[in-house]
Amino acid sequence: MGRLEAKVAMVTGAGGEHGLGRAIAQRFADEGADLILTDVIPTGLRVSSATPPGAWGGVDAVAEEIRKRGRRAMTAIADVRSVAQIEKVVAGALAEFGRIDILVNNAGIYRAAATVDVTEEHWDAIMSINAKAVFFASQAVLPTMIAQKRGAIVSLASMAGKIGSRNNLPYNASKAAVVSMTKSLALAHAADGIRVNCVCPGFVETDMWTSVAREQGKLMGLTPDEFTRQRAVTVPLGRMERPEDVANVIGFLVSSKSGYMTGQALSVDGGLVMH
Ligand SMILES: NC(=O)c1ccc[n+]([C@@H]2O[C@H](COP(=O)([O-])OP(=O)(O)OC[C@H]3O[C@@H](n4cnc5c(N)ncnc54)[C@H](O)[C@@H]3O)[C@@H](O)[C@H]2O)c1
Repeated sequence: MGRLEAKVAMVTGAGGEHGLGRAIAQRFADEGADLILTDVIPTGLRVSSATPPGAWGGVDAVAEEIRKRGRRAMTAIADVRSVAQIEKVVAGALAEFGRIDILVNNAGIYRAAATVDVTEEHWDAIMSINAKAVFFASQAVLPTMIAQKRGAIVSLASMAGKIGSRNNLPYNASKAAVVSMTKSLALAHAADGIRVNCVCPGFVETDMWTSVAREQGKLMGLTPDEFTRQRAVTVPLGRMERPEDVANVIGFLVSSKSGYMTGQALSVDGGLVMH
């Protein structure tokens, strides 16, 4: 028996070929869960990939991987910024599966800029996806979880939510907001049997990292490869992070094995941030 046998889990931002969402969905399916996979466009926002455009099947390809593991999967294209679209996904998921036990707020975007160059559009773009949507997607599943008297919500914060850095102020603030919302949601719904936690990854090699290395490298006069090499040597555990490193911890956080944990912001970063 897997740790998530008979559980139904919804993962946002699950369509990327190299993304954390895909790894989380695979981990959950390996543990026995059925999946609701959403993304803003069918293939996920691909900033760069060795795979030619059109060759990656996005949420449908991830759903196929889940079905090959013997689990059920449904897909939905929805923009997490739209409360109406997320509510529609939740309604569709309930019609299909009859319950939602787990929500992973994974969808997110990254942008870098020197503080003097941060525009209102940059701020709003980051905050609406990385912060606002985490609250409203959580709110959308709460009535179901309250009625079930059981549920687990895990959001993707970041080491950026715990520390400062020069060229990422809106991103850092959005991830600190995720840590804060995690604590308030956990307190508000502990008595309902709902646990709410977040994870704080470090330098994970995904499509997003390609943006991080390109944008931050440019601001620092480094090529993306130079930037990545410079960052990698600062990791105490000695290597860049893999999506599976994060997915394994989330698999634990949504299982009964972490049944006495709520309101936590768990660092999964190779030792970069120790609080
Ligand atoms: N990669 C890292 O180093 C790192 C580190 C810490 C935290 N994180 C966080 O982990 C999460 C996943 O990151 P990733 O590295 O897999 O990034 P990614 O860019 O590879 O994947 C993010 C996914 O979110 C989707 N998405 C973007 N905007 C959306 C919207 N409006 N509605 C619905 N979906 C949308 C994208 O299409 C994409 O599939 C993010 O929240 C990110 O901030 C990543």
